[in-house]
Amino acid sequence: MTARPRGPVLDHGNALHEGLGGAGVDPKRLEGDLADRFRAAHAAVEERRRTGEMGFFRLPGDEELAARSRAAADDLGRDVDALVVIGIGGSALGLAAIRDALLPAGWNELDDEARRGRPRLYILANPDPDTLTALLPRIDPERTLFNVVSKSGTTAETLAQLMVIWSGLEAALGADGLPRRLVVTTSSGRGPLAELAASRGLRLLPIPEAVGGRFSVLSPVGAFPASVLGVDIDELLMGAREAAARSAHPTLAENPAGMLATLLHLADTELGHPVQLFMPYADGLRGFAYWAQQLWAESLGKALDTEGRLVETGPTPLPAFGATDQHSILQLMMEGPRDKVVVFLAPEAPRRDIVVPPVLRDYPALSYLGGHTLFELLQGERRATAEALRRAGRMNMTITFERLDARSLGGLFMLFQIAVAYAGALYGVDPLDQPGVELGKVLTGGLLGRSGCPDPEIPPVASRWRM
Ligand code: PA5
Repeated sequence: MTARPRGPVLDHGNALHEGLGGAGVDPKRLEGDLADRFRAAHAAVEERRRTGEMGFFRLPGDEELAARSRAAADDLGRDVDALVVIGIGGSALGLAAIRDALLPAGWNELDDEARRGRPRLYILANPDPDTLTALLPRIDPERTLFNVVSKSGTTAETLAQLMVIWSGLEAALGADGLPRRLVVTTSSGRGPLAELAASRGLRLLPIPEAVGGRFSVLSPVGAFPASVLGVDIDELLMGAREAAARSAHPTLAENPAGMLATLLHLADTELGHPVQLFMPYADGLRGFAYWAQQLWAESLGKALDTEGRLVETGPTPLPAFGATDQHSILQLMMEGPRDKVVVFLAPEAPRRDIVVPPVLRDYPALSYLGGHTLFELLQGERRATAEALRRAGRMNMTITFERLDARSLGGLFMLFQIAVAYAGALYGVDPLDQPGVELGKVLTGGLLGRSGCPDPEIPPVASRWRM
């Protein structure tokens, strides 16, 4: 373990009155009513953490679970050219975040040596026949490890793609060959996938009962494929433990996850900023931004509060990417409706850097760039954008961390999971459920003739409008 001073740091200066010409948050409130509100939210979350309902808190310390992921990776993840993970939503987005952050860019195009003998990675989330049709001829069933991931074990998108893979695998390897090439990650001992694994002798990696899909990245859902790919999951979990320790205090000013949750909740509910952009300035955090979007949206967008009252609440989280989106959405952020708050995310130091060579000195439009590094340019753009937004009276915050590695990423995962738990308490909703996605699943089941799902009789839109 290497000594390290700190993990993700939240700078909320650009969310406060002074800097924003009176917009944003009155800092006095951070020691007044907002601190009181947070203390109550903290107590509510602590209670659910203590009872074990919020199972994600336990994952970073669950050595046994991590060891199971590592052991399965050691047994089955060697001597394969490809790892195909079949899963969607919380069963895929965390792994995509790990891939983007911790594997070298363009991983699948690298040769064996550059991948240090680790497999290429394919994530099958959306059941689009074009995607699967393109992939299947490129992978050799003898040299591919499949990992089907579904907490419920009932997700149609995942099961349908598994069935396609299953039939090809059985044809190529025979039923006896399947356990060498297919690993199931699902609820322990419950659900159709657990039954399938038990009856066919497949390795099952359990997702603890109290860990929901979007909170499962530090369970075998993320840890097993990450181990197969050579990611140091001990560092990931350590970063998560450190972040949890830093965001445990009931005092708002001493709890970064609490501050993030409090300010974003206030931005939405009192300051008129329901649109919340997570905007990394690092290509490696693209997947993280999508992961955070799902975590925020599915956890906080709710019809009913915990008392059963109709509230129809929740912010609209969106990923945005610096500096690319400075040439896209920034104009709207600067001058459009004041309904947005931006959370910038950035490493303080690059993993590697490139100096722009001092060529073309006779061209002032180019020459000032010579001698600077690309990291300096990117971070300069981030700081400048935050400042430009501040000068325009637009609320923003910045989360920085030392450099993008497994430990920082573990810290970011945990910071956001704890923050959304606090935000749930502040909104008065249950961040762990997602009742709103059920109706669509039942209607889909009905369209495909699933037993127990009535024919939804959805009229074609054109017939409703007589077009
Ligand atoms: O966070 C969630 O619960 C969802 O996004 C699920 O992960 C997603 O719907 C997939 O469900 P499952 O993991 O049961 O296949």
